[in-house]
Amino acid sequence: MNRRNFINLFSVSLFISCLPIFTASYAAKPKPKKKPSESKNWINVGTVEELNKTGQILKEKSPLGPLLIVGKSNSANLIAVNPTCPHLGCTVDWEAEENIFLCPCHASEFTTDGKVQNGPATEPLPTYETKIAGKSVMVRRV
Ligand code: FES
Repeated sequence: MNRRNFINLFSVSLFISCLPIFTASYAAKPKPKKKPSESKNWINVGTVEELNKTGQILKEKSPLGPLLIVGKSNSANLIAVNPTCPHLGCTVDWEAEENIFLCPCHASEFTTDGKVQNGPATEPLPTYETKIAGKSVMVRRV
């Protein structure tokens, strides 16, 4: 084996022996986390059929907490709120004729965007973004 062949063989051997180290260090790099505001995590909260039957879906447990979705699937104005009254924690009802959320315990009223219309509650209801995807009603944080 002449010197040139030896150097070539040594270079190839060195490259092959280091390949797993390069691969492992690349794979171990942490991926950047998405900010919550950039989240694309839509949650399926029910079916369009279920929504159209009563005009609302109450989901007491979801990854976002309790959710009340009101509207019709053909409406561009689906509304989703956390229905837990900020006064003392009762679950608010949707009053479609008055277009408000009404707390059955002490009569606090909330507008469709969750704002307090009449107390005693002083804090708004949290609201969520909604969409229809196929036959599913989807919700995510704003
Ligand atoms: S718990 Fe809703 S107004 Fe008191």
